[in-house]
Amino acid sequence: MTSYTTKKGKTYWPSAEMKKIAWVKDENIYKQADKDPIGFWKKLAKEGIDWKASWKKTYEEKLPYFKWFKGGKLNFCNNCLDRHLKKSGNKIALIWIPEPVKEKTIKLTYKELYDKVCRFANVLKKQGVKKGDVVSIYLPMIPEALISMLACTRIGAIHSVVFSAFSADALKSRIEDGKSKLLITADGYYRKGKKEDLLTKAKEGAKATTIKKIIVVNRIGKKVSGDKFLDFNSEMKKADGKCDCKIMNSENILFVLYTSGTTGKPKGIIHDTGGYAVQAYWTTKWNFNLRKGDIMWCTADVGWITGHTYAFYGPLLNGSTTLIYEGSPDFPDPGRWWKIINENKVNVFYTAPTAIRMFMGADGKYVKKYKLDSLKILGTVGEPIDEDAWNWYLNKIGGGRCPIIDTWWQTETGGTLINALPGIGPFIPTVAGKSFPGTRHIVVDEKGKEVVVGKTGSLVQVSPFAPGMLHGVYNDDKKYKETYWKRFKDKYDTSDGAYVDKQGNIRVTGRTDDVMKVAGHRLSTAELENAIASDERVGECAVVPIPDKIKGQVPIAFVVLKQGGGSEALGKELVKHVDKKIGPTARPAKIYFVDDLPKTRSGKIMRRILKDVLIGEEPKGLMTLVNPKVVGVIKGIINKR
Ligand code: WTA
Repeated sequence: MTSYTTKKGKTYWPSAEMKKIAWVKDENIYKQADKDPIGFWKKLAKEGIDWKASWKKTYEEKLPYFKWFKGGKLNFCNNCLDRHLKKSGNKIALIWIPEPVKEKTIKLTYKELYDKVCRFANVLKKQGVKKGDVVSIYLPMIPEALISMLACTRIGAIHSVVFSAFSADALKSRIEDGKSKLLITADGYYRKGKKEDLLTKAKEGAKATTIKKIIVVNRIGKKVSGDKFLDFNSEMKKADGKCDCKIMNSENILFVLYTSGTTGKPKGIIHDTGGYAVQAYWTTKWNFNLRKGDIMWCTADVGWITGHTYAFYGPLLNGSTTLIYEGSPDFPDPGRWWKIINENKVNVFYTAPTAIRMFMGADGKYVKKYKLDSLKILGTVGEPIDEDAWNWYLNKIGGGRCPIIDTWWQTETGGTLINALPGIGPFIPTVAGKSFPGTRHIVVDEKGKEVVVGKTGSLVQVSPFAPGMLHGVYNDDKKYKETYWKRFKDKYDTSDGAYVDKQGNIRVTGRTDDVMKVAGHRLSTAELENAIASDERVGECAVVPIPDKIKGQVPIAFVVLKQGGGSEALGKELVKHVDKKIGPTARPAKIYFVDDLPKTRSGKIMRRILKDVLIGEEPKGLMTLVNPKVVGVIKGIINKR
């Protein structure tokens, strides 16, 4: 195989070997798709997905709404499982690595997974779950997460997965929004060698909500009793192994996943069935050059969109093998991930820059212990990747052999949208690449006019909108319109900044709104502020993200107490309060107690000024403040520590 050189700033191209094995290698695909994007997706939809009835209209647009494959009929689970049974029933669909080193890896063939999913679909039916009902899933990275989700899609129920590290309060608000009657959870899971309790949070989150029953997976051997609770395995044993697929319309909702925006309340992002299936299938296949015999490992947790689309659904839609791991990357040592790749001969590895930066710290030592020559493609997602991390990933993990596919996308887009394709390239450190064939993104100024090459502006998507795009915000149409369609006429607003380079590739520079990416996790400053301010001792609070070497960004909180003052102990209590309201992922890296916050005459807190002070820049716009003196005081407090 041709090796890549590692000079800084270099543009890399596919090796001759990659050109040979790539699904897509002719860059004319972009032009061809551009000429007729709707026709392009029509062809892909027919080729990639098994439809029970063809659609009447491929694409219909009445902005801010649009529909793909209207009238088309399919079942999502059938596409992930049933259709592979004949040829690949005995092939491994799922490899599950538990965290405890001594515990055995579980491998499920397509047939075995199918059997479990059918059984669990019958368990759901027995509990009265019907088409269109929302089912809440609060599970760690264990096979039952995949089984539960697929079972929902089999009977046309809408799954709403809540990240297992989120708090009881976060779970509650999501249950309440979806009005789900059933919750699927586990007693706990393993993290860094310890048993982590999940059940207590699940119980608390479900208390006084619409939840009637809680199905519990026994993972850590806790005793569960009470009328409300059902044991996952016992129910499975009692259930029938046959369950027909419910045939759905392409536009029916497949799932809801909550994500943070600029307001305090997370939005339930709606994805429909047909369009999502088509985009998940093709982006997985082309971006990662996934072959049926390949093993793909996407390290994202199922609580996030990347876990949905690339840890679970994409590889299964393609009839490949997906690998998932329950635990912490550094347990029992920072070599665990590389050991897993080595032992399981992983071919495609997809992770976040934050993980790469974390491993760079322990450079070489743990990576060197393992041969990683099964790897063919490396992917990154979730935040901009810096050049050092990119180069380290290329050389230390990919052995200078595997292209790095830097994929830009969002919870809202369902699947990846901007990246280089492995057989076409180019692969440029920090640059995502071109819009996926059949989609178009441009960079515009405040007025929505396309900017020139090299100039930073707002990244927007233009019509026809990609098949996997969101189809609304659950219970909040107003929010859907305002968040995505208000700022630019007839264009989808990504809230990201970007520029296009001379070669026509897009470099994403980061969010332009009040959304942070902390270790790849999407968090809203407003949500975090609400959480802190809900402590009765807090009068006011402002949260700003600052750059962090490993995590990309971390939140810093400025707190004004009603009684004034503040102490280290109280800071710790507030961190605990954040754990309770959102979860440990949202913990502020530092809390500063201040007497006042910089504000404009209309009372708006000037977070930008706080940020400037934190990163050591001279704050601009002090004239607009009613209390400019406070900036000097805050500077003093920051510098004192
Ligand atoms: C950021 C994650 C730069 C971006 C799939 C986006 C990226 C937000 C990239 C969505 C990338 C994602 N380069 N930034 N390759 N991928 N982002 O909803 O700011 O958790 O708007 O979806 O992550 O985060 P979300």
